Amino acid sequence: MKYINKKFTIEKVSVQKIAKKFDTPTYCYSYKKLNENIKNFKKNFKSFSPLICFAIKSNTNVNLIKEIKNFGLGADVVSMGELMMALKAGINPKKIVFSGVGKTSKEINYAIDKKILLINAESKSEIKEIEKIANLKKRKVQVGIRLNPNTDAKTLKQISTGKRENKFGVNDKVFIEIVKYCKNSNYIDLKCLSVHIGSQILDHKPYEKMLNVISKIINKINHNFEFIDLGGGMGISYNSRNKKLNYKKYNLAIKKFLKNHKSKIIFEPGRSIVGNTGILICKVIYIKKTESKNFVILDAAMNDLIRPALYGAVHKILPSVKKNKKLYKTYEFVGPICESTDKFATSKNFQELKEKDLIIICDVGAYGMSLSSNYNLRPKPTEILIKGSKIKVIKKRQKYRDFI
Ligand code: LLP
Repeated sequence: MKYINKKFTIEKVSVQKIAKKFDTPTYCYSYKKLNENIKNFKKNFKSFSPLICFAIKSNTNVNLIKEIKNFGLGADVVSMGELMMALKAGINPKKIVFSGVGKTSKEINYAIDKKILLINAESKSEIKEIEKIANLKKRKVQVGIRLNPNTDAKTLKQISTGKRENKFGVNDKVFIEIVKYCKNSNYIDLKCLSVHIGSQILDHKPYEKMLNVISKIINKINHNFEFIDLGGGMGISYNSRNKKLNYKKYNLAIKKFLKNHKSKIIFEPGRSIVGNTGILICKVIYIKKTESKNFVILDAAMNDLIRPALYGAVHKILPSVKKNKKLYKTYEFVGPICESTDKFATSKNFQELKEKDLIIICDVGAYGMSLSSNYNLRPKPTEILIKGSKIKVIKKRQKYRDFI
């Protein structure tokens, strides 16, 4: 994705062409970028060839998941809907792990019937529920237990999950109790220890700490886990100030861990696979000048992309065509929704804009469309996938008749 002759282009297709053909707002993904991300992810950890389970929650588009499956990835799901979607995309159940603190009996039933690789339980009650259902089915079910390693992921507090005060996983004491319980059960096959300490992690040190905690607890209980599921969380650069996660150091820490513990590593990455594959193309509806600000009112809003409103997340905003004339302004980019948090960013020194200009919001491939809603009864955007010069509609724009 770059400017070619001053026009922002995805692979071989310009943003202008996409907007003309599909209107705006439109989510647009690059296949080439997806391919690159997956290849790099595999390369970073190639010495122990982990099972990579794509976190479906980050992007739930079935056509995109199909492409991801074609690279050999499995799935991490957190609801029956996500499990159904992963299966619909053709992902092998033996590559699917089911995480989440509140799986209902209906969801557990479904997961057992589909013979997925692991149900990663997050409480004693859940283990008992799985056991009860497995008993009724006379089946031994493969489970993992999610440990809360009480490790600060040093990321946004809203997306931090590995601290004691978070609802996720169980502490070491309960973990040990559950392991003992599982060993005596005829219906639970304890295969995995899982963790996930948070998302958008850019520092490898929390991962090192997490591995130390896991190592200690395994030594204490003396149980050999066939799988260690390290979750996802690898961060991406949303702006040039973001530092990059040091994959080399994370990889080294895992290799050190594997010297003492012979297990297969599972990862559950979402953002690092799809985050930078997507842009949101939108149009300036109005430019509204007040005494203190220049508001650029876009046709995309917080219902299409909620990350800035929900987490104060920063997404780069770019013009679709770079102008020669150097006239710069400070703009506040907002959507049409009736909430003051419906704001994408304030940009200083942005090239002068006019109404109907096209704008690009960057790095929205993860937790963009998957967190979209119909708030203010706005239809959800189109999603398209670019492969070279080919454009494929992977989800049509929602029609008013779909919800009215
Ligand atoms: N595994 C589990 C158990 C998770 O809860 C998550 C994300 C992942 C894997 C994938 O994490 P990733 O590799 O994508 O960081 N909506 C927020 C992010 C929430 C993440 C929730 N869990 C955002 O837009 O930043």
